Amino acid sequence: MKKLVLQKEEIYSGSLILVNRTYAYKENRSGFPELSLLPGLEEEPEILLQRRAAVLLLYLMDKINGWQGIVPVSGWRSLREQEEIWDSSLKENGRKFTETYVAVPGHSEHQTGLAIDLGRKQDSVDFIRPEFPYTGICGVFRERAAEYGFIERYPEGKEAVTGIGYEPWHFRYVGVPHAGIMEREGLTLEEYIDFLRQFPYGERPYRYCREGQEFLVSYLELSEAITIEIDDSHPYWISGNNADGFVITQERSRHGY
Ligand code: DAL
Ligand code: ZN
Repeated sequence: MKKLVLQKEEIYSGSLILVNRTYAYKENRSGFPELSLLPGLEEEPEILLQRRAAVLLLYLMDKINGWQGIVPVSGWRSLREQEEIWDSSLKENGRKFTETYVAVPGHSEHQTGLAIDLGRKQDSVDFIRPEFPYTGICGVFRERAAEYGFIERYPEGKEAVTGIGYEPWHFRYVGVPHAGIMEREGLTLEEYIDFLRQFPYGERPYRYCREGQEFLVSYLELSEAITIEIDDSHPYWISGNNADGFVITQERSRHGY
């Protein structure tokens, strides 16, 4: 067992942070998340994502030969860029449209570097609402996305939960196994973060098995710095939820314990 000290400010980072109308994105001290150019995309060098999200997206695209029919439209945005998009959409599209399809500056997942808008490759791609259908290569991408840690973040029918309109083009990296769990349980990120409250760390974890691998997921509420003990004989990782605590993920191998 290993002792770990978790600090309050750490709840604002990690691949499971919930960024929405209620929870603003808290930029780290340098003002930028850990960004990586999406390598191999010479034609779109300005599209940035956090390193792990970028790598997993590229693995998936390689696997399905996705770039033949899919273009990246928008990745990481600075607060300033989000303000510019908000202001120009207000002018061009009005308030109702803008509040439906553009997150309030300071509250956009694009500021985290964990979200990407994708479009079907065609002559003209809409920047705010690119087409990303359920058929063809876009459909193949959707089928495999959760395996690589990506979820469709703003599904149809969940507008009241997410506070954003249906956006079939916007994908969010939450990592494995969380994307698979959310898909299986039919949960948005808002709902998943809430759902995990039933599984307090050290008591009763949520168990998820896939292809012989077992994952234990639990929630740890944090109001001030805390020291926890964790089994370090297997891989584990911890993400803040950007609200009030952490999600702790532990991997167990096929023959483990
Ligand atoms: N289109 C999404 C909601 C954003 O602006 O972050
Ligand atoms: Zn988006």
